[in-house]
Amino acid sequence: MSKWKLIREGFNKDQIVTDGNRFLCANGYMGLRGVFEEADSKMFPAITLAGVYDQYQNLWREPVNAPHCLYIKVLFNGKEMMLGKEEPMHHQAGIDYGDALYQRETDYGSVLIRSERFVSMAEAHLLCDRMELSFREDGELIFISGISRDIWDINGPHLFDYKAQFGEAICIQATTGEKKTLVASAQCVAFQADTEESYEENEKGIFRILRKHVTPNERVIFDIFGTVFTSMDALQAGDAAIALCMEKMDRGYERCLQEHLAAWRRIQKESEINLEGNEEAALALKASQYHLNSIAPRHADNLSIPARGLSGQTYKGAIFWDSEIFFFPMFVHTQPEVAKSLLRYRIETLPGAIKKAAEYGYRGAFYAWESQEGGEEGCTNFNVVDVFTHRPVRTYFRDKQIHISADIAYALRSYYEITGDRSLLKEGGARVILECARFYISRASCHADHDDVDYADVIGPDEYHERVTNNAFTNRMIRYCMESALLIETIFSDQPDWFAALMKEAGFDKDWRLLREICKRIKEPNIKNNIIEQFDGYFDLEDCSLDTVRGRLCHPREYWGGDHGVAGTTQIIKQADVIAMMALFPDDFSDKVVADNWYYYEPRTEHGSSLSACMYALTACRLGLLDKAWDLFMRTASIDVIGGGKEWAGEIYIGGTHPASNGGAWMIAALGFAGLNIKNGQPAICPHLPEQITKLSFPIIAGGKRLRVTVTHDGGVIDSDF
Ligand code: BGC
Repeated sequence: MSKWKLIREGFNKDQIVTDGNRFLCANGYMGLRGVFEEADSKMFPAITLAGVYDQYQNLWREPVNAPHCLYIKVLFNGKEMMLGKEEPMHHQAGIDYGDALYQRETDYGSVLIRSERFVSMAEAHLLCDRMELSFREDGELIFISGISRDIWDINGPHLFDYKAQFGEAICIQATTGEKKTLVASAQCVAFQADTEESYEENEKGIFRILRKHVTPNERVIFDIFGTVFTSMDALQAGDAAIALCMEKMDRGYERCLQEHLAAWRRIQKESEINLEGNEEAALALKASQYHLNSIAPRHADNLSIPARGLSGQTYKGAIFWDSEIFFFPMFVHTQPEVAKSLLRYRIETLPGAIKKAAEYGYRGAFYAWESQEGGEEGCTNFNVVDVFTHRPVRTYFRDKQIHISADIAYALRSYYEITGDRSLLKEGGARVILECARFYISRASCHADHDDVDYADVIGPDEYHERVTNNAFTNRMIRYCMESALLIETIFSDQPDWFAALMKEAGFDKDWRLLREICKRIKEPNIKNNIIEQFDGYFDLEDCSLDTVRGRLCHPREYWGGDHGVAGTTQIIKQADVIAMMALFPDDFSDKVVADNWYYYEPRTEHGSSLSACMYALTACRLGLLDKAWDLFMRTASIDVIGGGKEWAGEIYIGGTHPASNGGAWMIAALGFAGLNIKNGQPAICPHLPEQITKLSFPIIAGGKRLRVTVTHDGGVIDSDF
């Protein structure tokens, strides 16, 4: 039992969905929402699979939820012991971040139910649940454990042709509608010998029914082992699920638990920041790191992480720029293999990005804004539903948010600069950077009457202002992408033949000349009184307060952006944009310029995205605005403790966990408070520790060495670690 726990006391049915996110257990392969075992589909239970997608009819493509193999129902003396149906005397449920365990205790008087469960960090396909029932009365227990087909789907159903198998392990196999991927869930239960066993199958799933007479003070334990495989992991997914399930039951719950804990401790040791001085902040940071680490792909080397992690199907389970700009920093500094996996996903989905660019009439690689498997674009032209008319709203994220390709190039270059490892560039990363640069060459607007190259009709990070020209962030990222393409020759100057072969393979001769030319001519932002204009014409928009704009809303779930949104005609922005640029390119700007822009943009920022606060916090650290940095840090780190964040965009549910904030919390603590900066594999620190924190200590990998950074108010040191 660790001391890092978040427990909700009492049962509140309005909190079931939020708690499903807060108490998520995951292991990169799958995410098990933190709802209690007996929940039905209205309570959003789900085992969401990473990288397995399906489209039903013409609805949105989204990740597939596997048949739920940890489903339980308890009946005692004919009464169903179900939260929401039977009033408990006491109920509590929560998550132990230190041990990556979900725990729950429900006391119905006659029976006390305790459970503990985990998604194994040691075995990607395994989930375990120990249910312990203690009786205060004599009676008949019926314990039903099953694999439920009553699955929560936002745009489903996704599974068809269900086939059931019964035996020591029970198993359901089904196929997805679109690609006919086989999904198999199996379940075994270890129980006491004097229990009567039978099976049942109905449209809700397959069930093992265990009956037993119990007496007062008797304690009965059921250890449930669930496994999930798809035909993407094993051709005979059902056989694989059954075999693993039986093997793990033979191994026993305790050993499976110990293996899980050992694997989880290793991950924590390699990556986690210890914060001293403020318990609330320490717990929030622990929670952030739990959420990001538990959804990291470690079973595969070419997967990325969806914007809402594995907490469900929100945001279509798609990969956004969140991966490269917000998740990648923690991994590249602590677990480079995971960082590599995120980027390999982009290398392998380059064909999808080339296809998308061609679709719009461009050359090179235009990555999907919402990338699914194979780099398939999940973002539709109508990504929001109007709350008044219930009609889809034409949004332009898919076609105009072009900074995505440069964000990927930015991370590829950072990977090389932080680790000193050129292998990823060589194994396709360099080609990705070239193709992204080529996309921007073909996307540039040149003019007969002036030399500036414009990027017109784009959307920057602030999505409320669509189709703008020369978004400062976008133009800077594009320039960096082009500079990075040009730098490849220098990075591989000792391997001229390899570089020549790359250029030949990419057919880059003519583009090389254009690249040098355009890179120098990309329009610099307009500046007025030190303030960088977010895009051409931004200063001409109505300058009013956030409260004024909020006061114009006619509906709490109304979308602020787009043609009719309340923010579009004003200077109110959704999230850090100019400030995000300053956080990513700190050396470009003096402290004075950063400060002036910070004070200008912060009051005009809604922070309507969980990606926003961390960029403001990072820049606040640099400026020594430590009170502000502290508040923004707490807001970022606590998001999945409180269960905060927007849950609706128009009529679309966007709730879930917030990996970008989780990554942001690491960034603020390590890159902001400790001021860590690694150049050419050499780490340096420049602490900006808020008074609330007495000590920060964390592991990093720099230049291939494991090191430990420790920062207190007396200064900081970087020692060797392990
Ligand atoms: C933000 C995007 C972000 C996406 C996924 C949106 O609300 O504006 O910047 O990539 O959410 O987190």
